Amino acid sequence: MVEARLCGLNSYGTDISPLAQMMAEVKSNPLFPEDPARLKACSRKLLSNIRNDTTEEELTDENEYFNPPINWDFWFPEQAIADLVKIKRHILNFDPPVEISEQNRELLEKFYLINLSSIVDTVSYQDENQIKVRKDEDKFEDGLPETIDLFESTVEKNQRGAVEFAKKCGGDGLFSKVVGEDARTQSLEENSVDLVVTSPPYINAIDYTMAHRRSLIFLDFFDQDSYKEHRREYVGMTERAVTKDYYDELRLTGYESIDGQIKKIFEKGERKDKIRAFILYQYFTGMEEAFESLNRVLKEDAYCVIVVGDNEIRNEYIPTAKYLSSIAESVGFDSVTDFKHYYRKVQLQTGRRSTGGKIDYETVLILQA
Ligand SMILES: C[S@@+](CC[C@H](N)C(=O)[O-])C[C@H]1O[C@@H](n2cnc3c(N)ncnc32)[C@H](O)[C@@H]1O
Repeated sequence: MVEARLCGLNSYGTDISPLAQMMAEVKSNPLFPEDPARLKACSRKLLSNIRNDTTEEELTDENEYFNPPINWDFWFPEQAIADLVKIKRHILNFDPPVEISEQNRELLEKFYLINLSSIVDTVSYQDENQIKVRKDEDKFEDGLPETIDLFESTVEKNQRGAVEFAKKCGGDGLFSKVVGEDARTQSLEENSVDLVVTSPPYINAIDYTMAHRRSLIFLDFFDQDSYKEHRREYVGMTERAVTKDYYDELRLTGYESIDGQIKKIFEKGERKDKIRAFILYQYFTGMEEAFESLNRVLKEDAYCVIVVGDNEIRNEYIPTAKYLSSIAESVGFDSVTDFKHYYRKVQLQTGRRSTGGKIDYETVLILQA
């Protein structure tokens, strides 16, 4: 959406994660395009409000700003969570020192919340070198970073980017709208879109809901119960959300090669195998629905560009890009071309190889509606 805006294009964005939606909205909409420097005045005031507040944060149910993820004391040092709650309280009660429209006020609040969410894991025991959710007991051996300093430096850094972006946009008269929600059931009008650019989830390699769990709950998008349900809305849902009703029977997609692999994994017989077999089924049927929905909203002959990684599941190599290309063709797309994009170094360390496989390249599929 950012690149679309810089190219002079209107854009719509879709993602099931409310955190991703908020991030996309904040990044692709210029704050104070008429006078970007006003953002700096707002941040100065917010930071000074936070620093001048010496009240001890009550970490109890009475505190409406404290919506902690379950086991928060396992994941956070107490001082870190108290500082995070204090920052959140100030963001949600912030009175900007400049004249501001209602729309910009909301965007400004979201800008600070996204900055806050980006430091949540830094001050938790999450091992940030891992995509998998792992606790690093020794993370703060040399001392806990000052949460408020960290928030300040994050805001300063992102503010530089936001000011630069706002200057480039100026009064461009364009829109970048996050329509949100499920790629399988998009609300955009039929035949209305000129181009789709997307990177669908990796099957099982990145557990999006688990990775963002702390921020999703801490920022009040969900409580513990609604978070559990939310996990099931993802294409490529986390195996933590797969219950017996889902994995007990063999489910097939109707695509011969994919089903051959699903059966092979299912018949290995262990619970883990059945869960992974279900995840493959859920991923490819979900992607089929997403392709149908994309084909519906795209104008005739318009392009759809998809970046996707292959996977390895239970020692089976899954040629995801090839499968997605044939699914896309079966719902009405033409495959125009494809190419591979290799990482210079392997960036996505997914930990145990058998859970998601090492990803050192991605495939770019160019499809035409
Ligand atoms: C590989 S990431 C791409 C993220 C981002 N669009 C980008 O290009 O950087 C895949 C994204 O798919 C999202 N996702 C998973 N299931 C979805 C669904 N049913 N509808 C829409 N988005 C979904 C995840 O939340 C995740 O952000």
